[in-house]
Amino acid sequence: MKDSFPYARHPSACIYCGHCVAVCPEDALQHIGEKKGEFILKTPDSNNPVDFFATRRSIRRYTSQPIASDILQQLISIAETAPSGHNARKRQYHIVKTQYAIEKLEKITANHYRRLLNISPLILGFLSVVSPRKAKKMAKTFQGLKRLVAAADKGHNPFYRGVPCVIFLTAPKKQYTGKDDCLAAQQILMLRAHQLGLGTCSIGFALRAHKALEKYLNIPKNRQIYAVTIVGYPKYHYKKAIYRPVEKCIF
Ligand SMILES: Cc1cc2nc3c(=O)[nH]c(=O)nc-3n(C[C@H](O)[C@H](O)[C@H](O)COP(=O)(O)O)c2cc1C
Repeated sequence: MKDSFPYARHPSACIYCGHCVAVCPEDALQHIGEKKGEFILKTPDSNNPVDFFATRRSIRRYTSQPIASDILQQLISIAETAPSGHNARKRQYHIVKTQYAIEKLEKITANHYRRLLNISPLILGFLSVVSPRKAKKMAKTFQGLKRLVAAADKGHNPFYRGVPCVIFLTAPKKQYTGKDDCLAAQQILMLRAHQLGLGTCSIGFALRAHKALEKYLNIPKNRQIYAVTIVGYPKYHYKKAIYRPVEKCIF
């Protein structure tokens, strides 16, 4: 808040997710993304099955309520109904539930990006010679990463959001469709979680740090982390659902 009004702290970092307007309990915010057709806001109707999908949000604020083991088991059982190349079903689910271990994941991931930022001037110097356009884009990415690492240093948990549970999906490195298999299961897991009143978010930032995370989690050397999901009970409830207009639908 600034002068009693909400304001965007980093407008250039806005990804048009629409969360700010969808979550506001008073319907007090507007977003330029609505006018630009990036999304359409609607009050969800619990009888409309489409609204089930539209009300799934990437949740980044959680209560500290732990998730019972039988619920986690349910999530994984349903996730395993997902397709897999050649019906390989070689996925494994590594569940991290202790606060100590989740804080450690946060540190490991932040350290990965800290190291990357240390060499960022070299990367940017090289890119500005071979592709100035890419260098400009990369500089923006590094700005975002700097903010995340600074937030981690302040103990704000920017990567795993202080969640009570993190699920890592792994597959054998040799499995040709391993990554696709994990991503397919992750989406089903997230929708089942939404059905059970749980919130989730894919953590792509964790994937870049997969080697250090695999070491910490004692994941066998022949396997790789291909999907990471945080799961917990949402702290806030969303008043509106976001619908995304389809830009390209070719028949
Ligand atoms: C592959 C992938 C990686 C993502 N990584 C992150 C992440 O590291 N951190 C995060 O907060 N959100 C992450 N997200 C969530 C997206 O930002 C989110 O899906 C998008 O903004 C749309 O919001 P919605 O999921 O609520 O509709 C990721 C999503 C996907 C599909």
